[in-house]
Amino acid sequence: MAEKLNLDSKLTPKELAKHLRQPEGETGKEIGLQMNKGNKHICLNSYKVLNPKNKNHILEIGMGNGFFVKDLLKMADDLTYIGVDFSPIMVDEANFINEGLIKSGKVRFEQASIERLPFNDDTFDCITTTNTLYFWPQPQDNAEELLRVLKPGGTLLIAYRSKSFLNKLELSKHGFTKYEIADVENILIKSGFKQITTKTIKEPELDFDDTLFEMEGLFTTGIK
Ligand SMILES: C[S@@+](CC[C@H](N)C(=O)[O-])C[C@H]1O[C@@H](n2cnc3c(N)ncnc32)[C@H](O)[C@@H]1O
Repeated sequence: MAEKLNLDSKLTPKELAKHLRQPEGETGKEIGLQMNKGNKHICLNSYKVLNPKNKNHILEIGMGNGFFVKDLLKMADDLTYIGVDFSPIMVDEANFINEGLIKSGKVRFEQASIERLPFNDDTFDCITTTNTLYFWPQPQDNAEELLRVLKPGGTLLIAYRSKSFLNKLELSKHGFTKYEIADVENILIKSGFKQITTKTIKEPELDFDDTLFEMEGLFTTGIK
């Protein structure tokens, strides 16, 4: 049976799109919780494709409320993680949901934009980001900023839905930039990433506001 998701039906597609780009206030908090259901497979699959190694230092861009960080941290020994999101309510929520991991010193969340990351060059072994690419203001420059903070030999993973899928959703007409695999690979090539590859992973069908969708996640990786 298909999984069912009813995003807040009080919102217009334009309002919903605005909260997906940058969740705000109480409504944004609620949308964050709903994203944990609708994006569960792509989020968990992104961590599987990333496949971190023991002691890796990981950066996630746009983790939303960080609900799945606990699953990433179980994937290898002694992982450390920083999540950045430019939505203050998502950072607050991520801090609340991950209180135990934060106390352990393994996890930290910061409010920042992909445009200017508050980290030194060559800091992270891996960078992962899911469902944020549509909102990057300057994809080429933003990918170069990710390259800057990645260690030589480190991996960037971008997880996303295809343009052809998003075109089926009314909300994607409002502030989304949509990409097919070749577009994303070209951005990474031009930004200086090497060994670029893309995996496609099918997911269970999703009943989204009473329409049934075939779902798949796209996972493009590049190495510094
Ligand atoms: C659609 S949500 C995806 C959340 C989660 N990764 C998921 O897949 O469920 C997009 C998230 O990226 C964040 N975001 C969008 N643009 C950003 C930017 N320029 N810098 C940092 N975070 C950004 C938003 O605030 C939001 O939390």
